[in-house]
This record gives sequence, structure tokens and C-alpha cells, in this order.
Amino acid sequence: MAERGPFDDARETSELVLGRSKVGAPRVGLVLGSGLGRYAERLFDAVDVPYSELPHFPGVGVPGHAGRLWIGRVRSTPVAVLQGRVHLYEGHDPARVVFGVRLLRALGCEVVVLTNAAGGVRTDLAPGELMRITDQLNLTGRNPLVGPNDERLGPRFPDLTDAYDPALAELLDRAAAEAGIGLRSGVYAQLLGPSYETPAEIRMLRLLGADAVGMSTALEAIAARHAGLRVAGLSCITNLAAGLAQRPLSHAEVSETAARVEGDFARLLDAFVARI
Ligand code: HPA
Repeated sequence: MAERGPFDDARETSELVLGRSKVGAPRVGLVLGSGLGRYAERLFDAVDVPYSELPHFPGVGVPGHAGRLWIGRVRSTPVAVLQGRVHLYEGHDPARVVFGVRLLRALGCEVVVLTNAAGGVRTDLAPGELMRITDQLNLTGRNPLVGPNDERLGPRFPDLTDAYDPALAELLDRAAAEAGIGLRSGVYAQLLGPSYETPAEIRMLRLLGADAVGMSTALEAIAARHAGLRVAGLSCITNLAAGLAQRPLSHAEVSETAARVEGDFARLLDAFVARI
């Protein structure tokens, strides 16, 4: 028999969560980034569990990240929401960072929507704009799939050609148009953090083809594709990246902008989830 691993851990945790659900198994999973967590409070027939009560779930230690798993409905669609995520820069192994995504799969999700707060690398992305992620640069130097592969989780060498699902991208664009919300698109680069980038690093990222930069999401997208989940990605551009504004970056600015965009973000997710 295969050794016990993340697949078994996710299954065990999923059984506990499903036992509490009022809406059965979720179809869509949402991961809510910095300052965007309040969307979870909109769910109907919701139950929520702190990560600290979930076996195998790593603890969350970042302000703006609540650390609760929710299950409920967006309109008629059963969803699971990770309100707050675990980051590589907190010192967790990459495989631990993606436990939540694997849990979403174990719960029954077929689609995952990864959201984040990000700095705008491209000069025409203004703070407060929403950006659909078209593709990603994993610049962390790490990968959650390193180590022996458990085929029950997914294949050894997953394809990432369409890491962000083209059909979901179209639905997201249509949902934005329907909701009257401007939606940009671009490439997201994940760096390790937790320091923000230097202006030289932002110039480098632009040369590499990045449009937005953050400290999450790319590892989750890899684990999600490995697990056969279809992925949609949404960045809230919370600030101009380092060197583009004449002032220092701060987590407070990130949280403030995310709070300002909350309404549009929620309406877009509602419209999108309804179309999936
Ligand atoms: N850089 C990295 N991560 C971020 C930023 C940024 O400018 N804004 C929000 N998350």
C-alpha cells in the first residue's frame, strides 16, 4: 500500500467538512486573497470552520487573512470558500501551502477560482482594477509537486499549457460585461516575498512578461491543475508595483484598496459562479 500522504490527509479533512455542510458537496472552490475575504459572508446556507479545527490544515498568520473554510451556496451553486490562505513566506513547505486546494478537490470541486491582491507591473493597470489572470510566472524557485508523486493526486508531469482554463476565461469576461465591471487581463508573477520587490526587480519582471506581481496563487494553480481542477484566476490590483509610484508600498495600502473594490469583486464573482 502507498504511504499515507496529502491525498489521505485531504480526504480525511474533507469527510469532516462534508459532515457539517448544509448544501452537500461543493462544485466550485474559491480562494480569497488579502482583503477580499468578506465575500464568504455572502454565502447562503453557510457553515464555516476555522482552519485551526481542521486536521492537517496549516495555520494562517497574516493580517487580512481570516483562516476559515466556508461551505454554502452562491445562488444555486454549492461552493467551498477558503477565507485566507497559507503563504510560502510564512515558512511552510510548498506541499503544505497547497493543502487547501487539494482539500477543495477532495470535497468534490471541479473548478477553483484563485483570487489575490497584486501589484500592477504594467503601467496601465491602476489600483482598484480587477485583472483576469491569463497565465503565470512561478518565480519562487519552488514547486508543490516536488517529491514522490502520488498518482491518486495527479500525474507526475502535469501539462500547464492552459493553466488558466480558456472556457472559464470566456465566462469570466462575459460575467464582467454582464455586471458592468471593467476587467483587465494579464500575466501574474509569484515571488516568494515577504518583502515587496525593488524597482529593479519590477523592471526585470516587466521584461519577463509579467503584468502583475504577488506572493501567492502560482503554486496553488500548479497543484490545482495537477489535481485535474479547472482554474480561473482573478487579481485585484491594489497598488502600483515598486518604483512606479512616488511613495513606499505598505500592507495597509493593499488592504485599503482591496476593501474599496470589494463591491465590484463580489458582484463579479456572483455573476461568474452563476455561469459555471
Ligand atoms: N508586490 C507583491 N505582492 C503584492 C503587491 C506587490 O506590489 N501588492 C499586493 N501584493
